[in-house]
Amino acid sequence: MPTPNSIRLLVAEDVPQVSQHVRNLLSIQSQVKLLEVLNDGANVVETAKQLRPDVVMVDLLLQGKVKGPQLIEKLRESGLDIPVVVLTVPQHPLARDPARGIDAVLTLPFSGFELVNTLSHVLADRQARTSGSCRVVSVFSPKGGVGKTTIAFNLAVSIAQQGVATALIDGSLQYGDLRALLKVPSDVPSILDLPTDRVLESDIRDVMWRDPAGIDILLAPPRVEMAEMVNVRDVDKTISLLRRLYEAIVIDTPTSLSEITLAFLDASDVVLSVVTYDSTTIHNTLAVAEVFSSIGYAPEKMQYLVNRADSSGGIGHDELARALGRRPDFEVVSDGRLVVQANNEGMPFVVSSPDAAVSRDIRRVAQTLLGRAPVNAPVRL
Ligand SMILES: Nc1ncnc2c1ncn2[C@@H]1O[C@H](COP(=O)(O)OP(=O)(O)OP(=O)(O)O)[C@@H](O)[C@H]1O
Ligand SMILES: [Mg+2]
Repeated sequence: MPTPNSIRLLVAEDVPQVSQHVRNLLSIQSQVKLLEVLNDGANVVETAKQLRPDVVMVDLLLQGKVKGPQLIEKLRESGLDIPVVVLTVPQHPLARDPARGIDAVLTLPFSGFELVNTLSHVLADRQARTSGSCRVVSVFSPKGGVGKTTIAFNLAVSIAQQGVATALIDGSLQYGDLRALLKVPSDVPSILDLPTDRVLESDIRDVMWRDPAGIDILLAPPRVEMAEMVNVRDVDKTISLLRRLYEAIVIDTPTSLSEITLAFLDASDVVLSVVTYDSTTIHNTLAVAEVFSSIGYAPEKMQYLVNRADSSGGIGHDELARALGRRPDFEVVSDGRLVVQANNEGMPFVVSSPDAAVSRDIRRVAQTLLGRAPVNAPVRL
């Protein structure tokens, strides 16, 4: 996982003012180390082979024998597998297109914040997709109360029921929804009890709460103010270790799109965005979808789950699909009686009522995320 101070950047830029701008922006931060700025596209692939940067930034308008677009193509063909961020100007708009080697686009003028953010997201996204066989799924929504915690818990249990070693992380660090849901005593350890420097596998095993439903849970700190003691580096380290110990990780997240929430989402293979038929939820979901796209999340990383899908509140299926720009990937029905009762008892409904429609819906999500969906089962959309 990328950690602060760890992004090594190689830049291909022949306009001195732009190189200087990038140098200036990077000189006042420590997360990105600028290895070299090359003003000739012809040397970039060779230099990248030697220096092994984490990210290469290419000016689309690079002149000379090897121009910007050719260089992007050469880097893609080189097999170096280094993510490329393309720099452009508003007069030459460009869409991100990972299949063509354009992992993210930065349009001048950009701030240091945008620059560093784009580089770290592109890198984290790449690493999440290439690090082993463990599936990491974050359950997120920019709107509170849509069912994130309920879905994350039941989804994790449902994945475990498929015989997959599963961890659930309570990423809602301030309120620790899962501790409350499962009525876990406040002295049970949390992510905060992991050592700050070298975390070993045995440390992780010591802090995991073993839920009777067959999953291991990494709880959030027991008190609100303790959340601040967890930083992005802790999150990255923890997830990369958990990836080695489990075959699937589900992360419950808070509503706020903080640095920490982004660290959880960055480290995920899939962001399961929970929507409901509610205009503010849809509005906020679209707003964050734009953020995710601009920081370089691949469209296939984003999946939409409509919760309480049978309570459409006057908004039609097609209307929702039009707003999202695609059909949602999953639907989960509403079952007020079962869900509320199961939550109050701290029981997963996928265990207590496996045949209920809501449990079947969650099971379908679990199987699809594991690539095990029954081929000819009808998709309920
Ligand atoms: N499919 C469903 N059918 C019926 N009730 C549901 C369903 N999903 C969630 N709920 C109920 O909605 C409420 C909110 O759920 P939950 O706490 O899981 O949401 P959340 O998104 O995690 O909220 P927060 O933003 O506070 O973390 C709970 O009372 C839960 O029982
Ligand atoms: Mg919650």
